[in-house]
Amino acid sequence: MGQAARHLCVVGIQWGDEGKGKIVDVLSRDNDIIVRYQGGANAGHTVKIDEEREYVFHLIPSGILQEGKICVIGNGVVLDPGALIDELDGLKAAGLAREDSIWISDRAHVVLPYHRLLDAAREDASSGKKIGTTLRGIGPCYTDKAARQGIRMLDLVDPDRLRSALSRSIEQKNVELAKLYGSEPLKIEEIFDEYVEYGKRLKPRVRDISRALWEKHDAGARIMFEGAQGFLLDVDLGTYPYVTSSNTSFLGLGAGTGFSPRKVGTVLGLVKAYSTRVGEGPFPTELHDQTGEELRKVGGEFGATTGRPRRCGWLDMVAVRYAVQVGDIDALVITKLDVLDDFDEIKVATHYKNGSGLMEHFPTELNEGLKPEYEVLPGWKARTCDCRTPGDLPRGALDYLQYVADRSRCPIAMVSVGQERSAIVRFDPWLQPRTS
Ligand code: GDP
Ligand code: IMO
Ligand code: MG
Repeated sequence: MGQAARHLCVVGIQWGDEGKGKIVDVLSRDNDIIVRYQGGANAGHTVKIDEEREYVFHLIPSGILQEGKICVIGNGVVLDPGALIDELDGLKAAGLAREDSIWISDRAHVVLPYHRLLDAAREDASSGKKIGTTLRGIGPCYTDKAARQGIRMLDLVDPDRLRSALSRSIEQKNVELAKLYGSEPLKIEEIFDEYVEYGKRLKPRVRDISRALWEKHDAGARIMFEGAQGFLLDVDLGTYPYVTSSNTSFLGLGAGTGFSPRKVGTVLGLVKAYSTRVGEGPFPTELHDQTGEELRKVGGEFGATTGRPRRCGWLDMVAVRYAVQVGDIDALVITKLDVLDDFDEIKVATHYKNGSGLMEHFPTELNEGLKPEYEVLPGWKARTCDCRTPGDLPRGALDYLQYVADRSRCPIAMVSVGQERSAIVRFDPWLQPRTS
């Protein structure tokens, strides 16, 4: 791999929770720096090392458990300092003193209490049009950023700047909270006292990340970018308005870091072997029956951030093909293959039916009338969780993977067959799609 091509980007290409935490942890071993470039504490990335040790990260990049790595929070992230400090304290309590490994962009926007309040108030007020957000203040914080009214990390770490920025914004937010939602006014002093302490604690971690990444690039470091959420939750390209408020795909990397996506050699797209979604919004292959229950139970499909049961359904190749093409995916990582081990048959949506016509392309809007057209594949009815090489996988599982590669027209680089770090099968060379 050439000098320019050594960096890697790992993104989910469904509606989130594809297993990014686990795969980023595994791949961090071969990288020096791990960078989050969008989203905030709405993310919940699980890393299970073994039976005793499981961690969920919301803001800290999932490479933090591998020793000696630098973990970076880029300018595209909306950062809730209280949530980050809780995470850092949790790591310290677990005997992992890693605070010095964290670098935070001075340009990242700060999530404030009024963002969380507005998130809840706007959801409550949106009769019939709820997004089902994580209530972490994500949308309102990105709204302030786009409206050029945000407070950034460089303001947080400077008490004078923080005070004047807060007095401007709280005055305005109190009008909105009181007039539109009938809430009590917020007190500037309380918020200032809390946030000025966060600023003191985080100040040594804050720097110009764009410059730092370019310097590390020039010095030969290997950088891995970790997406949060998934392609279908992208604010521009996903199932709008049922999306999050950032650019979740590889395409968000440049704006969210100040580093060039052209320097990234490989983009891995994570696909769960079936589909899930948390929150509201269209989901063509959703199952409301016993099979959906079974996927939820076997896959442990409950939100890592909010604990909500995830909606479950079969794999949707129309959506995967869209995300592969538009998200510029080089290879797939198929996760949670083991969850399908006991199913007699496995369905995969190949097209959508729109009246009498068949659609192969993912439309700008998924309307109620669209129905998935399925192909039914035989289950393999064998355990995959102990497989470590392609040769260990049951024939039926290999056939399923080949089918996914063919239908997505994208190679498969890795397969995850269990929660633990070790439960990985690598294809070297990648499993290639067959041309028909
Ligand atoms: P993320 O948001 O993409 O990092 O995914 P989450 O952590 O929210 O959800 C994925 C869940 O599946 C977590 O509980 C993981 O421990 C678990 N998981 C990840 N990979 C696998 C796998 O291959 N098999 C099984 N059974 N569980 C997995
Ligand atoms: P990870 O990184 C799954 C969903 C919410 C809601 C919508 C908007 O763990 O994959 P927001 O709070 O962002 O304004 O909510 O996006 N959502 C996620 N769903 N995994 C996530 O993150 C998500 N982050 C946000 O459920 O539907
Ligand atoms: Mg998650």
